[in-house]
Amino acid sequence: MTRHDARHAPDAQAGLTKRPRRARATRALRDLTAETDVLPRHLALPHFVRPGRGIEEAVASLPGVSRVSVDMLLPRLERQLRAGVRTALLFGVPDDADKDGGARSADDAAGPVPSALRAAREAFGDDLVLVTDVCLCAHTDHGHCGVLVRPRAHGSELVVDNDRSLERLAAMAAAHAEAGADLVSPSDMMDGRVATIRARLDAAGFSSVGILSYAVKYASAFYGPFRDAAGSAPGGAAAAPDGPAAPTTRETYQMDPRNAREALREAALDEAEGADMLMVKPALAYLDVLARLRPTTTLPLVAYQVSGEYAMLKAAAAAGVLDEASAMRETITAIRRAGADLIVTYAAVEALERGWLR
Ligand code: PBG
Repeated sequence: MTRHDARHAPDAQAGLTKRPRRARATRALRDLTAETDVLPRHLALPHFVRPGRGIEEAVASLPGVSRVSVDMLLPRLERQLRAGVRTALLFGVPDDADKDGGARSADDAAGPVPSALRAAREAFGDDLVLVTDVCLCAHTDHGHCGVLVRPRAHGSELVVDNDRSLERLAAMAAAHAEAGADLVSPSDMMDGRVATIRARLDAAGFSSVGILSYAVKYASAFYGPFRDAAGSAPGGAAAAPDGPAAPTTRETYQMDPRNAREALREAALDEAEGADMLMVKPALAYLDVLARLRPTTTLPLVAYQVSGEYAMLKAAAAAGVLDEASAMRETITAIRRAGADLIVTYAAVEALERGWLR
C-alpha cells in the first residue's frame, strides 16, 4: 500500500495550500529534499599512541577507545581505511618518565607520534591523511599546553609563558613533518603559534606540510575523558614546594565559552598567519560559532566532537535513555549542517560500519 492508494477527500482546511509536510511523506521524498550529507570523507578518527609494543589499554571513560602502540595502531588504520575514513589524527601519550617542566620529549624523533607516522606512511603511502596534534600538555609534568614561568608581579599561580612555548611547539611540529605528517595541528592556543610553526616548517624544507589550526578552542568541561586518555590533566606536579602553584585550569589560554566574536578574531589571526584549515572545538555546544565562522573564511572548517560529547552519548545509550544510532547520526549531521567540512569523532568508524549515517 502506498500513500496514493488512499486518495484524500477535499481537505477541510480551506486555504491551507502551503504544506511543508508534502516533502516529508516518504523516505524517498525526504532523501530527495535532504540538505545535508555526511560521507566517509567528512570524518576523521583520533588515535592515542603509546611507546612500546603490543600495547592496547582501554580508556575507561571512552568506551571503544584505546591507547595503542604503533604495531597495534596499524591494523586500526587499515580498518578505518576500509570504512572509508581516510583522515587520522594522532595524539602521543609518552611515559611519565619522559615528561618534565619544559616538554623536552615533545620533539623526540623516536617518540610515539613520529614512530607512528613513519610506520603508517610505509604501510599506507598517501592513502591516509595523517594529522598530528601539536601541543605540550602530554609532554609536561604539570599538564599545561605551554611552559610555566613565575609570575612577574607577585602572584599565587605560575603563568604559561606564551613565547617560550612557541619554540617547543615549532620544534614538535618540525619533528612531525620530518616523520611524514600531512598536516600538523596545533591545539595549544598560544598566540602566534601558526606563524612560528609556518616559519619553522618552511625553513626546514617542509613548505608542503600544512597547518590545521585549532583556531577556536574553548576552555571546556567536555575534554575530561580525553585528559584521562592522554594523561594530560593540568595542574599536577612541578610547582616548587612553597612557591606559586601550577594553575588547575586552561582558562588563561583557551577561550571563554561566553565569547563568539572572539572566535572570529582568533580564526582571522590564524588564517593571516598561514593556517590551511581552521578548527572549532568542542562541536555541539558551539554550533553557533561554527555557523558564524563559515561565511567569514574560504578555508576548510573542521569541528571536533570531543571526548565528553562522545562519552555523554555512549553513557546515555548504555543507560537506555536514548537510541545510540540515531543520537550519533543526529549530532554528527548537525555539526556538518552547521558548516563543518571535516568532523573529528571517536565514533567515525563505528558509525560507518554499523550503518548509523545512512
Ligand atoms: C591537547 C588537546 C585536548 C584535546 C585535543 N587536544 C585537551 C585539552 O585541551 O585539554 C581534547 C580532545 C577531546 O576532548 O576529545 N591540548
